[in-house]
Amino acid sequence: PRCIWLSRHGESVYNVEKKIGGDSCLSERGFQYAKKLPELVKQSAGDADLTIWTSTLIRTQQTAQDLPYKQLQWKALDELDAGVCDGMTYEEIEEKYPGDFKARDENKYEYRYPGGESYRDVVIRLEPIIMELERQENILIVTHQAVLRCIYAYFMNVPQEESPWMSIPLHTLIKLEPKAYGTEVTKIKANI
Ligand code: G3H
Repeated sequence: PRCIWLSRHGESVYNVEKKIGGDSCLSERGFQYAKKLPELVKQSAGDADLTIWTSTLIRTQQTAQDLPYKQLQWKALDELDAGVCDGMTYEEIEEKYPGDFKARDENKYEYRYPGGESYRDVVIRLEPIIMELERQENILIVTHQAVLRCIYAYFMNVPQEESPWMSIPLHTLIKLEPKAYGTEVTKIKANI
């Protein structure tokens, strides 16, 4: 039976600086995760063949670079676009756009960054990805937290309005296994 694996990219330079968005490289810890990932996948998938899907951003590709499977990049897997707030810290956003900061907290699913996206927008652009996933065999998706929240909610049957608040930890490989009674989840945390 086929499975889907999910992973966030390893810690990025922007993660360390607490900035959102951008297209930064992995941090040193992030690269350690990239080095560990083949072993984690092997542990979870055995000799099964799989295909890796990444976003078009550097940090997901660096995370997948040591994985010995064929890889495909999807623009639809890029991180939620923070528009005018791209590259800022949450503190800077709160200072510069206090109204937006509050509005987002009050309705994180619907809130759209000026010039950017909402979670609802991401769910819509993920539709082709979800359709393709339903058709495919084993896929490992290496992408971003906001995107993974939406994909995870879809497979776990969680209402999408709740997805913006779910935590998808860094440096953890998530395995989703469809079963008759629902989706079974296994998480393997990298020891780094
Ligand atoms: O960098 C952005 C995060 O992946 C999404 O965070 O939607 O909770 O602000 P947020």
